Amino acid sequence: MGNTTETTNEIKVKWRCPSNIAIVKYWGKKSVQIPCNPSLSLTLSNSYTEVEVTVSEKTTHEQVELTYYFEGEENQKFGNRVAAYLADNIDSFPYLNMVAVTIQSKNSFPHSAGIASSASAFGAIALAMLDIAYQFEEKEIDDDFYQKASELARLGSGSACRSVFPSYSIWGEVDGIEGTSNEYAVGVHNIHPIFKNYKDAILIVEDEPKKISSTVGHSLMNDHPFAEIRFKQAEKRTKELVDILEEGDIDSFIQICESDALTLHAMMMTSTDYYLLVKPGTITAIEKIMQFRLENLVPVCFTLDAGPNVHVLYPEKYQDVVEEFINTELKDTYKKVIFDHEGEGPQKLSI
Ligand code: DP6
Repeated sequence: MGNTTETTNEIKVKWRCPSNIAIVKYWGKKSVQIPCNPSLSLTLSNSYTEVEVTVSEKTTHEQVELTYYFEGEENQKFGNRVAAYLADNIDSFPYLNMVAVTIQSKNSFPHSAGIASSASAFGAIALAMLDIAYQFEEKEIDDDFYQKASELARLGSGSACRSVFPSYSIWGEVDGIEGTSNEYAVGVHNIHPIFKNYKDAILIVEDEPKKISSTVGHSLMNDHPFAEIRFKQAEKRTKELVDILEEGDIDSFIQICESDALTLHAMMMTSTDYYLLVKPGTITAIEKIMQFRLENLVPVCFTLDAGPNVHVLYPEKYQDVVEEFINTELKDTYKKVIFDHEGEGPQKLSI
């Protein structure tokens, strides 16, 4: 490691990392954070986490000396998870043996919005911590940096590895798609104009914390009766979606997107310890979206993450008509709506 003594004076970096919404879902994993199937997601823009990481002199003998603040207040619970993550990955952050770290983290979306923040949080943490490692080693940020950051983000939270790339990205090995990996995500580069600046309006149907964590949900895929079929289906869909995104085949996009959202929830409902995360508002919104599409011939569709909130997806050129529909006909189904869209990926911010 390079000139550590000089740098113990203080290093500060700040990174913003957006959240992402999977079109083909990651559901089921092996050790260590290896997905059972590939997934493909849209990186968002307005829903992000910002972290400011400060390195200073150690005051204890702990291997990882971390103080974690969330929105200005010390958050020991998430701080412990991050400290354990950093300790597990000390080889990538060897400077932690010599310095203490303070992380100040905040989200652009309200705490109670029911939006999963682990993707944007671990994306931002991995980018910032790796940036510091690069500074110690006097290395420049290059393409390898983002690949490594994606791998490290994955080890914090699987879906986080996709947030490190703009636009659309794939995580997981897909037979026939060169460069794909179970270790990190890769960007999808040939995107038809119809899928550029794609819109995602997030209907917050319920803003309570999740009753069943994604970690428990993933583990229920271990002895799920439909697991193997589901994993194969997701790989096939990911592969098809790459062509669909290139060709601009919006009808096929809608078919895969909605079916995969319902498949995710079908997996939850049919696992040995079954559970249900959709709420009446979720179902009403879904039915109205499908009906609106049929009646008005507007290519709007829905997807879901592991919760009751509905993501309404539509091309930019239908923005006015869909947003009018969301503000009127869908109004009773949600408590709040966050208008988001395809984004440009993470950003290093000046301090
Ligand atoms: C339903 O990435 O939150 O959103 O790896 O245990 O942190 P961990 O799980 P997480 O799972 C996300 C599942 C999902 C689908 C997806 O984003 O692909």
